[in-house]
Amino acid sequence: MNILFIGEIVGKLGRLTVSRVLPSLRKDANISVVFANAENVAHGKGATKATLEEVQNYGVDYFTSGNHIFWRSEVFEELDTNDPSIIRPANYPQDVPGQGFKVIDLGKDGKVLLVNLLGRTFFNEPVFCPFRTVDKILKDFADEKFAAIVVDFHAELSSERVAMGWYLDGRVTAVVGTHTHVPSADAWVMPQGTAYVTDAGMVGAQHSVLGVEPEIIIEKLKNPQPQRFEWVEEGPAVFNAVLVEVEAGRAKSIKRVDRVLDGEGR
Ligand SMILES: [Fe+2]
Ligand SMILES: [Fe+2]
Repeated sequence: MNILFIGEIVGKLGRLTVSRVLPSLRKDANISVVFANAENVAHGKGATKATLEEVQNYGVDYFTSGNHIFWRSEVFEELDTNDPSIIRPANYPQDVPGQGFKVIDLGKDGKVLLVNLLGRTFFNEPVFCPFRTVDKILKDFADEKFAAIVVDFHAELSSERVAMGWYLDGRVTAVVGTHTHVPSADAWVMPQGTAYVTDAGMVGAQHSVLGVEPEIIIEKLKNPQPQRFEWVEEGPAVFNAVLVEVEAGRAKSIKRVDRVLDGEGR
């Protein structure tokens, strides 16, 4: 079974890029299920039902998220449905909208458990320990046989993500890092069979700082005055993802799938 995990889809250009890359990729790579981080799918911050549905039409099955998921309240209803297309980090308090994990039935391919966690270092978010949280989820599902368990660890610090990879090696199929929007070159299968990558990357404007107009970010870094973010919505775009090959619950391989499309969609 092949699982594709796409990095953070940023705004309109990100969604357009998914529409240009994913349909043929999904066919060519014989992919059973596609996950993507959608915390920036709606105009750079947060998600809406409409933007999630749009990206599902291009071939993404389910979404994870991160610290920006509560940015738009339109998504709360989707987070709280019985069968949500999107989950939020599991280590947020239980009474906030949404679920932190999801069991997905792929029919003949079996069941897949998707888990979302948020890191703590350099985040000012009210979250519990991600390590203990994932322990509890895995313990609660100890009797369940999954074809794959995929964890999106959304964290600022690369070392916190590497540590999570080692913590879960042999216990889950893949640990995929997100949040920094920059694809990392360390995709590998750890000794006990867990596929790991520090950051899946993003899908969005190449001529940007994480999707935002570079001049605005440079101003923000140089001067104290607040800046209004503007998201780059045209020009060249990057598509970053990882493809995980799974056999008997363990990762056989993990490969980066990175494309750059010029402004014309090539
Ligand atoms: Fe993000
Ligand atoms: Fe984030």
